[in-house]
Amino acid sequence: MNIDDCINLEDLRKLAKKRIPKVLYDFIEGGVDDEYGLACNEDAFCRHALLPRYMVDISSLDQSTEIFGRTYSSAYGIAPTGGIGNFRHGGDMMLARAARNANIPFIMSGAATASMEEMVKVAPEHGWYQIYTARDRAIAEDQVKRAADLGIPALVVTVDVPVSSNRERNRRNGVGRPLRLSLGARLDALRRPFWLKDYIAHGIVMLPNWQPYAHEGASADEISELFSRQLPNSLSWKDIQSYRELWPRTLVLKGVMHTDDAIRAAEIGVDGLIISNHGARQLDRAASSLDVLPRIDQAVGERMTLMLDGGVRRGADVVIARALGAKFVFLGRPTLYGAIAGGDGGAAKAVRILRDEIDKVMSQIGCPVLSQVAPDILHQDADPLHRNAPT
Ligand SMILES: Cc1cc2nc3c(=O)[nH]c(=O)nc-3n(C[C@H](O)[C@H](O)[C@H](O)COP(=O)(O)O)c2cc1C
Repeated sequence: MNIDDCINLEDLRKLAKKRIPKVLYDFIEGGVDDEYGLACNEDAFCRHALLPRYMVDISSLDQSTEIFGRTYSSAYGIAPTGGIGNFRHGGDMMLARAARNANIPFIMSGAATASMEEMVKVAPEHGWYQIYTARDRAIAEDQVKRAADLGIPALVVTVDVPVSSNRERNRRNGVGRPLRLSLGARLDALRRPFWLKDYIAHGIVMLPNWQPYAHEGASADEISELFSRQLPNSLSWKDIQSYRELWPRTLVLKGVMHTDDAIRAAEIGVDGLIISNHGARQLDRAASSLDVLPRIDQAVGERMTLMLDGGVRRGADVVIARALGAKFVFLGRPTLYGAIAGGDGGAAKAVRILRDEIDKVMSQIGCPVLSQVAPDILHQDADPLHRNAPT
């Protein structure tokens, strides 16, 4: 299979899987503990069914979505994922370009393998920055200041990493600090010529956003060491308050799941939330973001822009999230797999596949304007559906 044969996001995943060593694929795809949460995130969408309306004029479709004073071409964007350059060299900017070209947001990870300065050159209006708060708050403050000076439109504070999580695939594969890859893992890497070429040319890619806080000439490994000494650490509401004071533009919290936390964030003046369980990579038994969305919407939907991520794999998922109160959704793994599988073209393809699927669903349900999707398009007593069940 090559990129032209991929017709859905699942195909991109399969192709990406072939191109990178198993240890890296496991790092991306894996969850925590029993990996129960991974399936839950996707199943949450399948527990809702749509009620189509017919005899509607669908000759013109409109996915445009306004959030934070800007109109994007649809209601989805690219979630932050760290370490991208180690899966595909230059991958961060491939995703940034795909987002800019499609007029959707791209969130650069706090563990990105490109710098925020590079991102601003590629996607000055579409690139947001996600921050992982350093133990040394002076580093965090400096990152905020750099992002503010660069004119980045939105700062996303990830709040759901109080401790490192139990990623058993990584532990079994010897991924961690220090890296202890088995002979089998090394041999597997040698069998991925596509990836190997990049690795030989560029080695392990560093975290350039952290470089200013390491000593002059620090190696990729030394910068990763610095990063791992600074994280994880628990945030307090005082930190969020100080982000609010420091950051002049849109402030978003990513990882809020509890209604009381959402209310507290609204009181502090946070502009938006990405309801998220970190793609089931932190707490295996966390609720799915879709399941907690209606309650949070009821509590703060009038005051804040509610977004979510986790398990979005089809255009119908975006429509369902909207019907339940999310103005916007983000995708982590699927867009990343697009870039790994097909570079710039693959990233663009992932974005386009979703757009085309949303168009189809809007046409099927007789709702030609995405922003007008309302709860009445949902069948309230839907039985669990199993999207992957054989027909
Ligand atoms: C490989 C990988 C790296 C990630 N890195 C980050 C990160 O640096 N910061 C962050 O806030 N979330 C990170 N996430 C979580 C995503 O932003 C997002 O919440 C999650 O992937 C959404 O679920 P999905 O993959 O099912 O779409 C990462 C996820 C993956 C798969």
